[in-house]
Amino acid sequence: MKNCDNKKIRILITAGPTREKIDDVRFITNRSSGKMGYALAEAALKSRMDVTLISGPVCLNPVNGVKTIKVESASEMAAAVFQNAPECEIIISAAAVADYMPETVTEGKIKKREGGLVLKLKRTTDILETLGASKRKDLFLVGFAAETEKLLENAEGKLKKKNLDLIIANNVADSSIGFNSDSNEVTLIFSTGQTVDIPFGSKKSIAETIIDKILNIVQKKHQ
Ligand code: PMT
Repeated sequence: MKNCDNKKIRILITAGPTREKIDDVRFITNRSSGKMGYALAEAALKSRMDVTLISGPVCLNPVNGVKTIKVESASEMAAAVFQNAPECEIIISAAAVADYMPETVTEGKIKKREGGLVLKLKRTTDILETLGASKRKDLFLVGFAAETEKLLENAEGKLKKKNLDLIIANNVADSSIGFNSDSNEVTLIFSTGQTVDIPFGSKKSIAETIIDKILNIVQKKHQ
């Protein structure tokens, strides 16, 4: 792996799921384990970057040497990202942030009654899109696209919509890669139009390749 030379490059990585409260004992979440984001944090640390990891609720051990900020909900993750983003040269959003949250949160526990229960949801803030909308020239902004269909087409759409420098297309329809697996297989799509396929491998080795490629570009930019 490449190492950062001279000045430490500061990177912010998000990982894991978010939890959107329904009442005091229930929430909406997803199957993200945080493994991909934590592997990226480890790889960035190995490359001697200054790493901040903003993590949703996961069962992973903290990475020694990484500043980790634990959050629960999408709004807490957004606040932590927006607070730390101005200090960073690279941001990678690997978290599976909830797109929707309950419109109201009930105090205590919702009582079971006859018939069904309708939950009204509202959109959360799109953290990455907000960052992309006012992107600094010296920030390299990276997102993941978790797709179950039209992988490259949908990923490219998100690259453009969110004004990213790189999107990492992740086919989450295949259970051996994507959510909660130890392995992955991804395609990098850069805003320059260049694409790079990273073949099936451990999330750790894929993270090292991703960090190497990003560092190559960012170091040239900061020379
Ligand atoms: O955690 P693991 O079990 O290791 O699984 C890894 C992973 C599959 C979660 C990861 O590789 C991945 O694909 N992460 C992105 C999941 C996702 O939410 O993708 P999306 O296509 O819905 O979102 C596109 C991008 O916008 C993502 O970078 C996401 O972090 C970001 N986003 C989404 C919604 C939102 N409200 N705010 C955001 O910033």
